Amino acid sequence: MTPSAPSLPFRDKGLANTVAAETQMSFIDGAKGVLEYVGIDIDSLARQSTFEETVFLLWNRRLPKAAELQAFCASVRSEYEVDARVHDIVRALPRSTPPMHALRTLVSCLAHFDREADENSPEANRRKALRLLAKTPTLIAMFDRHRKGKPFIAPDRSIGIAENFLWMLNGARPTEAMSRALDICLVLHADHGLNASTFAARVTVATLSDMYSAITTAVGTLKGPLHGGANQEVMEMLLEIGDISKVDDYIMGKLSRKELVMGFGHRVYKAYDPRAGFLKTFAKQVATDTGNITLYDMSRRIEEIMAREVSAKGIYPNVDFYSATTYYSLGLDLDLFTCIFAMSRVGGWAGHCIEQLEANRLIRPQADYVGPHGVKYVAIAQR
Ligand code: ACO
Repeated sequence: MTPSAPSLPFRDKGLANTVAAETQMSFIDGAKGVLEYVGIDIDSLARQSTFEETVFLLWNRRLPKAAELQAFCASVRSEYEVDARVHDIVRALPRSTPPMHALRTLVSCLAHFDREADENSPEANRRKALRLLAKTPTLIAMFDRHRKGKPFIAPDRSIGIAENFLWMLNGARPTEAMSRALDICLVLHADHGLNASTFAARVTVATLSDMYSAITTAVGTLKGPLHGGANQEVMEMLLEIGDISKVDDYIMGKLSRKELVMGFGHRVYKAYDPRAGFLKTFAKQVATDTGNITLYDMSRRIEEIMAREVSAKGIYPNVDFYSATTYYSLGLDLDLFTCIFAMSRVGGWAGHCIEQLEANRLIRPQADYVGPHGVKYVAIAQR
């Protein structure tokens, strides 16, 4: 039997129809609006799990037993602190630096203080994944304190990631409801198939570079407004609209100018994003509890208009739409929203790096050259 000829390269702009990796972490059915982590639906996880347990699930592809979860949480907590020299690097950053730029730099600089940075064994990569998971919230909180001219707050090893983040950020103990709200958002954002930043992380680690480089790449990719940066833009839009009576004109104006309404649309979901489905109810509760119901009512009105105008194109709210109101209601600064997304997605990114290296192959698509041929080189003096 003669071997079949390799299929010719084909164009796939945006790689929407390309399967570039196998994963056992998250499953998405975009047509039905389903998201599962290791087979468990996102709704059950948001209701019953915690961020730490969810990350254990993603990294080990099973739920932990009680003692395993306890040990995992203890390991994460033991890595909260960052090297004292990182404190100086945070202080050296201009206070005006946008937080996602700061986070990209600071995640990258963690590598300088990790002797295992270039050690690519599975065990070392798991240890680095744990360090990145534990230290990312510390870096975000430290930078925010620095830019506000406030002293750093040392992490508290006796509490979990969400509560500890709010503690380091505000220097005040959050209420249980605040910590739980943030924890739920972290669960919902932890992984999402081969999204742009996860793909970027897998491309980097597939070259046998290192996990710090991969997560740095991912942070830079998440930052874009077509990806993780949308949640900040949603909130800016709500504040710009200002009042429910102005919603209709604002949204209809945007649509008539063919502008994007941030927080809507998704490359994979052509039905309701299940994370947005959960957050919609949740955001209402948080907004009511914190006196921000007007923002929630405005969001609902935007959703109604978008449903009437563009749902036929498969455009529904995505995870960023209601997470924006939730974060705002928790008192978080707008420009920290994407950093909080990163703080959660680092769990997914690191898991994908580990998975990529289990069956690695360099990721290297082709480009279709559309420029001229046979052009004569002209010496500089003759140009
Ligand atoms: N507002 C208005 N119209 C939209 C929107 C939107 N947010 N999103 C898509 N459309 C329209 C497009 O203009 C296009 O219309 P057309 O067929 O008349 O030209 C149609 O819907 C299809 O959209 P595409 O751009 O082809 O969809 P694609 O899969 O390439 O883009 C994306 C998905 C980038 C998320 C897009 O919907 C968008 O830019 N949304 C706003 C930004 C956003 O919220 N990003 C967060 C995504 S979720 C995440 O990363 C966590």
